Amino acid sequence: MSNAVSSQQNKQKNNKRSPLNVKPPLFKQVCVIGLGLIGASLAQAIKDNGVSERLVAVDRHVPSLEEAIQDGLLDAGSSVFDDVVSGSDLIVLAVPVQAVQAVFVDIKNAMDSGQLATDCIITDVCSTKVNIIEAARTVFTSLPIGLVPAHPIAGAENSGYHARRATLFVNHSVIICNLPTTNLSAVANLRQLWEAVGAMVMTMEAEHHDAILAHTSHLPHLLAFNLVEQLASHDDNLDMFRYAAGGFRDFTRIAASDPKMWHDIFFANQSAIVSALDEYSVYLQDIRQLIIDKDSTALMGLLGRAQAARRHFGHMLASTPYTDTPAMSASYLITPSNTVTGTIAIPGDKSISHRSIMLGSLATGVTNVTGFLEGEDALATLQAFRDMGVTIEGPDNGKLTIHGVGMNGLKPSKTPLYMGNSGTSMRLLAGILAAQSFDSVLTGDTSLNKRPMERVAAPLRQMGAVIQSTGHSGTAPLSITGRDNVGKPLQGVDYDMPVASAQVKSCLLLAGLWSEGTTTVIQPEVSRDHTERMLSAFGYPVTVDGNRISVEGGGTLTGGDIAVPADISSAAFFMVAAAISQDSELTLTQVGINPTRTGVIDILKLMQADISLSNETHVGGEPVADITIRSSSLVGIEIPEYLVPLAIDEFPVLFVAASCAQGRTVLTGAKELRVKESDRIAVMADGLKTLGVDCTVTDDGLIIEGQGIQSQNGEVNNNQPVFGGGHITSHHDHRIAMSFSVASLRASEQIIIEGVETVNTSFPGFAELANQIGMSIQVDHSKA
Ligand code: S3P
Repeated sequence: MSNAVSSQQNKQKNNKRSPLNVKPPLFKQVCVIGLGLIGASLAQAIKDNGVSERLVAVDRHVPSLEEAIQDGLLDAGSSVFDDVVSGSDLIVLAVPVQAVQAVFVDIKNAMDSGQLATDCIITDVCSTKVNIIEAARTVFTSLPIGLVPAHPIAGAENSGYHARRATLFVNHSVIICNLPTTNLSAVANLRQLWEAVGAMVMTMEAEHHDAILAHTSHLPHLLAFNLVEQLASHDDNLDMFRYAAGGFRDFTRIAASDPKMWHDIFFANQSAIVSALDEYSVYLQDIRQLIIDKDSTALMGLLGRAQAARRHFGHMLASTPYTDTPAMSASYLITPSNTVTGTIAIPGDKSISHRSIMLGSLATGVTNVTGFLEGEDALATLQAFRDMGVTIEGPDNGKLTIHGVGMNGLKPSKTPLYMGNSGTSMRLLAGILAAQSFDSVLTGDTSLNKRPMERVAAPLRQMGAVIQSTGHSGTAPLSITGRDNVGKPLQGVDYDMPVASAQVKSCLLLAGLWSEGTTTVIQPEVSRDHTERMLSAFGYPVTVDGNRISVEGGGTLTGGDIAVPADISSAAFFMVAAAISQDSELTLTQVGINPTRTGVIDILKLMQADISLSNETHVGGEPVADITIRSSSLVGIEIPEYLVPLAIDEFPVLFVAASCAQGRTVLTGAKELRVKESDRIAVMADGLKTLGVDCTVTDDGLIIEGQGIQSQNGEVNNNQPVFGGGHITSHHDHRIAMSFSVASLRASEQIIIEGVETVNTSFPGFAELANQIGMSIQVDHSKA
């Protein structure tokens, strides 16, 4: 009895769809072997898109064939190959990998008997490729010229004819393996077929395909099956599954797919899967050890990097922009208070902390750091250097011991270097990495991955660096090619910086340490000079001639001791807190007063703040002093533009001061504020308006109508509220969160600030310290 079924009997039903495609069909007859999910979906897509004049199929399951003919999908079908294959110009093998060889035997016989042309295109949809080619080699004396192995990266948990979907391949990738023996026209025709059904075609070597798929598809499936097995074999498995959380469900979703198919794939791609599994075991052991050792920094580093990479690749694969706002995780609920008093120590300087890790790592010998800022930004730099093989002990109460590896001792990181929220880490490291022998990738969190990186990438390219900002618009992730792959060292250049950015200057000077000749950076205004100072402290000559700063490549750094002073940018919040409140007096001890950072003191003095410095001395090449500030009758001013780079990070809190001053304050020449952790002009203006302050945003600054009251008889009157209450969002910006906290000293009602977890990037312990001097901040983690 023949198992052939003909569509002639069902002609009346065979008129369901008409081809959408007006072009002549690509093929005369396509024969699909196997009407499972993929075979039937492809058949349906071929039919719906009018890709072939006739469509026939072979499947062991005759009812499926009958149904497909009833449905008008097939012109003919049979469980016997020879019954329907004759005259096909394309054969698609949609059978399990293990069955492919037997089908090749049928095809060879059909070619030998003349039923099939020898140039008939033969393709498959299997998820391994090397073994398909090997099976063909076993059967055919020489590989058929029409053989084009292919793999559509599409699927679903459901299997069988009924699960078919014509749209299954739309926007999915199809990998085609070009073989040297294959007719180019066969490849071109197959490409057209896949494109006609909506897929995106790419080509790849079979071995590469198998290795990639072993990692990206086969290993995850294997792990999913295995995890379900693990849980199911527990004695209390009912409870396990009853209370299984979303994580289990998400992770094991793919274990619902066809076991037979996966059984075959695991054997078919045996060697690539085994090596992917071996690599996985090593990573599993590593993370196990981190948990045993309670190595919180390393574990955070690993999880943070993985999260960033997942986000990055997720967006890359989905071709979608990064989400606007990350999940909020903590808030400040602040009750108004009006006085701050005390003597406090502010945490270490962020800029200097970053540089201590960088230069300490590149130096010869040991560098001991004290006063290191244990905030997330500086810790990101620390982790990056650990990832590049540097041994760093600590941090322990601000103390670090860095075992320098010398100028050529960094090793490539196994994973992308994750910079979190830290622009300084990313930009300075870009300079260092552009000069290293090995390739690197730098990535960061949502906010950092939106910040401009071409400002460093473009001048680095002038030096011969090969660096790509792979984000949406000149943004991170940065992909940097090592000098070994470029073939020559960086070249010194003269670079005229368009903006007075210490990060750009430092990036180029650091790259200059490995460059041939002299690297000169010309800055339009003075910007912070910690890099220059610390290079000198490590014995590296730096020439400063006004705003021209130069280094010669090829020198060395010698490790030593670094005492990091307190961060004036963090101190600024408390300086303004004391100035705008009543009966206040604060002393902030041993704060860095490097003249390239003291713009905030100059501006507050111009606003007639009561500030004095005492105990002036030097630590680690940087000037420090105790800063005392008292309640002040501030007045509005026009801020001189030369002070902008010297107070660049302090403007958010200076806007709070300006709101409490008598009269108008005008800031101009501060466009840079728009590209900080947030657009600090827009975000501060929004928040100030929420709290009832009249202000006007300009292209490069802000005009604030201060609501302070003139002092009478020299008496400060800071009792009147200037701000109302309200909800403020930090926009993932630590300084926005802290600035509005300070505003609570002149608020009439509670201020709630959302998204304050970023405060930890620069000022861990801010809320506790603020409460210690008389403020009232309650940290609410309920949104975590
Ligand atoms: C920094 C420089 C400044 C500053 C940042 C830290 C540094 O950035 O805003 O917080 O450590 O070099 P720009 O130099 O880009 O203005």
